[in-house]
Amino acid sequence: MSWWHSAVVYQIYPRSFADSDGDGVGDLRGIIDHLDHLVALGVDVVWLSPVFRSPMDDFGYDISDYRDVDPLFGSLADLDELIAGLHARGIKLVLDIVVNHTSDEHPWFQSSRETGSAKRDWYFWEPPRPGFAPGTKGAEPTNAGSAFGGPGWEYDPASGEYYLHLFSRKQPDLNWENPDVRAAVYDMMRWWVARGVDGFRMDVINFISKVHPIADGPAAADGLCYDLDLVANGPRIHEFLAELNREVGISADDLFSVGEMVAVNVDQARAYTDPDARELGMVFTFEHVNLDQKGAMKWDLAPLRLVDLKAKLAEWQYGLADVGWNSLYFENHDQPRSVSRFGDDSPRFREASAKTLATTLHLLKGTPYVYQGEELGMTNAGFSRIEQYRDLETLNFHTLARSMRLPGFAIMRAIRTKSRDNARTPMQWDASPKTGFTTGAPWIEVNPNHATINAAAQLGDPDSVFAHYRRLIDLRHESEVVVHGRFELLLPDDRRLFCYTRTLGDEQLLVVANWSKRRVALPSALPDVSGAELLLGTHPSPGRTLAGWESRVYRLR
Ligand code: NOJ
Repeated sequence: MSWWHSAVVYQIYPRSFADSDGDGVGDLRGIIDHLDHLVALGVDVVWLSPVFRSPMDDFGYDISDYRDVDPLFGSLADLDELIAGLHARGIKLVLDIVVNHTSDEHPWFQSSRETGSAKRDWYFWEPPRPGFAPGTKGAEPTNAGSAFGGPGWEYDPASGEYYLHLFSRKQPDLNWENPDVRAAVYDMMRWWVARGVDGFRMDVINFISKVHPIADGPAAADGLCYDLDLVANGPRIHEFLAELNREVGISADDLFSVGEMVAVNVDQARAYTDPDARELGMVFTFEHVNLDQKGAMKWDLAPLRLVDLKAKLAEWQYGLADVGWNSLYFENHDQPRSVSRFGDDSPRFREASAKTLATTLHLLKGTPYVYQGEELGMTNAGFSRIEQYRDLETLNFHTLARSMRLPGFAIMRAIRTKSRDNARTPMQWDASPKTGFTTGAPWIEVNPNHATINAAAQLGDPDSVFAHYRRLIDLRHESEVVVHGRFELLLPDDRRLFCYTRTLGDEQLLVVANWSKRRVALPSALPDVSGAELLLGTHPSPGRTLAGWESRVYRLR
């Protein structure tokens, strides 16, 4: 049992949280100015998206110096002050480290670019495909595609070779086969631990071991290969993670660790989070957030079926019930806003559905994550013009889809639904024109609905979405059964209700959540609630039926 088993995490995407100096971009001092918000919410941990030095091609997920803060966000002294300020309030700080790749402007890569360099082998360099002139179409060493579109290899004319980048061309993949790379990463992580951080969120960490050497895989429609079996969960992944854990002292110091893992199923997650294996505390899976897409492409929209979501979340609850640990999330900086995606963001149901999504997620077993603004029920951006978007993944998709002559309305519909910018509009602090986020010109437009959806309006209101989150967080802190209780899904085939029990010893909770706008009677197959204590609910004076998007938590015994 570790401290993070009963913790609730709050994710800050610093670019969009609070801007203290009027340059339109959020910064560390902005966060320091808003620590009261975190205290009012009652969270235990802050996960800070990257603030390291970066050319900002992928807004910080392209790091050029792991041991310094980018001037856009402030200074190392500001970060020290933030850590101290959080610690003084009993809140821990988790850094987001990106070590599958660096920026192409990192000195390691700059040195690696020189063919005779001792660091040449720190990245993946390969000659062109035999029979192809370097730099021409099809000359890439393999057909590996980049997650952000286009080939995963970039030609470097100076050396005549290509380097691998599974994300943007400014994010070259580090070669973890090289022990010097691993030693340098561990050293850097130890440096941060010594500086006072309480753990790490590790970006696409299951990509660090790839099938080696990289070879051609099955080609998709664009001729490129996105076969994750070739790049994720590779042959040495457990060895590397166990080594990292040991070398950085993750288990020894009981540090927080969560690994973001594309393409991980529950059996693999159990292996990664088995405490005996000493690899990771928990992982972020994508399985439940990939249910509203057809196939591998997030842009290929499919309706979400509640029965599928219940089955998937239940599979993970059962699969990690005895060994391993779940992370619980609906939102982060890469996902659309959950109230627009899974709930109902119309004025009539926005608040109720935001609360009910929260009830459903926060009563599960695992460590819940709240993404900035989720606690206010912030919605998707709703941008209709491509000029309003800033994220390179979105902009690349737009260019590619246009070049493939997909219909413009379908492209924009996919972008409006799935773009990462949906979660990146400025935090809605108040109703003023720039939402209290900045005094300057915000780097991305504010959502016009901040006039009604904002922290200032919700903080003193006991019926707000914010207040509901606070109650859920308090309940977790007070209740052993919320932390450790055994999960059982009820009514798996019901298309409107998400119901489950949590049981620990003599204690049992029942969660009933109406994931529809229709009023629904509580089915007789559910446990009888007539004598039960209502611990928490979304609506006043609960009756025999659940109103649209109403949810409740009962103590049955
Ligand atoms: C996952 C991060 O969450 C995302 O924002 C980033 O673009 C990719 N990894 C690449 O670092």
